[in-house]
Amino acid sequence: MGLEDLYRDILLDHYRSPRNRGPLEDASVRIHLHNALCGDEIELALKVQGDRIEQARFSGRGCSISQASASMLTEAVRGLTVEQARELLSRVARMVRGELPAEQAQLGELEALSGVSRFPVRVKCALLAWEALDKGLQQVEGPGPGAV
Ligand code: FES
Repeated sequence: MGLEDLYRDILLDHYRSPRNRGPLEDASVRIHLHNALCGDEIELALKVQGDRIEQARFSGRGCSISQASASMLTEAVRGLTVEQARELLSRVARMVRGELPAEQAQLGELEALSGVSRFPVRVKCALLAWEALDKGLQQVEGPGPGAV
């Protein structure tokens, strides 16, 4: 199986079987965003204790890339500190924009999003959930570098 096929399978799997989809009752922060280009929307909910993200869930509707990306995000950030999540967010955003090669990004499954960099109109789809994360982290920690 080629890398492109592997990436496509990972995205499809997350789209068809989204992880952590649905409401998060005791969320510390909820961020609702929509993609102005298409009207699709996402709500990301984070439960943060101390400086650690204990849980992340999402809801909303959108294209397969936006939903798969949100699903992967919720898995990737759980257990990270706010600072680690910011660093992850920065690497994902740079990779999706084509500024950081996937092989250098060291993002595991998230590298499946790297193919999006060849399709500029889809970059927004892939980063919608990550923009929500950026805003969520700012709310729990105060304004940061604004990585996305
Ligand atoms: Fe709407 Fe991708 S087409 S988020």
